[in-house]
Amino acid sequence: MAADGRVPRTDLTGARRLGEGAVAVVTGAGSGLGAGFAEVAASLGMRVVLADADAPRLEAVEDRIGAAGGAARRMVTDVRRYEEVQALADWVLAEGEHVGLLVNDAGVEHVGPVWEVAPEDWHRVVGVNLHGVYHGVRAFVPAMMAAGRRSVVLNVASVGALTAGAHHGTYEVTKHGVLVLSEALADGLSAAGAPVQVSVALPGPVRTRIYEDANPAVAAGATGDRVAAMRRLLADEGMAPLHAARTMLAQAAAGAFWVTTHPDMLRALAARRAERLSDLARTVTLL
Ligand SMILES: NC(=O)c1ccc[n+]([C@@H]2O[C@H](COP(=O)([O-])OP(=O)(O)OC[C@H]3O[C@@H](n4cnc5c(N)ncnc54)[C@H](O)[C@@H]3O)[C@@H](O)[C@H]2O)c1
Repeated sequence: MAADGRVPRTDLTGARRLGEGAVAVVTGAGSGLGAGFAEVAASLGMRVVLADADAPRLEAVEDRIGAAGGAARRMVTDVRRYEEVQALADWVLAEGEHVGLLVNDAGVEHVGPVWEVAPEDWHRVVGVNLHGVYHGVRAFVPAMMAAGRRSVVLNVASVGALTAGAHHGTYEVTKHGVLVLSEALADGLSAAGAPVQVSVALPGPVRTRIYEDANPAVAAGATGDRVAAMRRLLADEGMAPLHAARTMLAQAAAGAFWVTTHPDMLRALAARRAERLSDLARTVTLL
């Protein structure tokens, strides 16, 4: 890391070191950023365990990593179900593996004003994005602590962890949750003197299929327009997933807590959030 705290975007020395004699476990590894994290980790010589709810997607990523000379294996895992994440951990740990990197990446979007979101969509988004991260932490972190070796938990939130708006409330609730969960986890592990580092990813737009899978039954009108606009935004302006994963893995392995693809956007959103909380502090009524 440079003296000003900035991490060179392409310096993966730390990540390479993290992978020595260790495996990387990545959820949501069947597509987008998760596939990117898995491919970058494999290219650095890490053995990678791929987890995703979608079997064909997982198989395609495993084949791609194998074809590039990397080592990967897969387990179909629905991160909403604790028993499936625990089974994933049991499978990995039973072989005496050290988990050097755990990426809790699996995530889904749902667009629309909160009062219109169907209960099954609310539960799907909260189940994958928030419970999924907790499940990963609960199933893997005790063993990572017990290993007594340096390791990193990288929880994937979003710039949405700092925003609150009309269209993405469900998603933003979960991403605020992932940020707070990560802060609590980092404080707890530090107080316990554990060699497990926590990082939280707050990426900006990345060119993935997340809005293809959002809103299984897309309504017409404002919500439909918003989904279409977000698909266009990611397709036209999103960062390539491999580049995004490489950038954020470099930052995390160099010790950063907050990692991102779009530092300027993150700074602006953090300032806006801080302003809102300052308003609260200034205007709250004392009883
Ligand atoms: N793409 C972006 O612009 C962007 C920006 C900020 C944050 N993110 C976050 O990045 C993460 C990855 O998203 P992405 O953009 O790569 O999307 P993506 O749709 O390309 O990939 C998400 C993967 O998660 C898997 N998944 C969905 N439900 C699952 C479940 N129940 N259990 C296990 N796997 C499941 C999907 O099958 C898919 O392979 C998410 O947490 C997302 O919120 C994405």
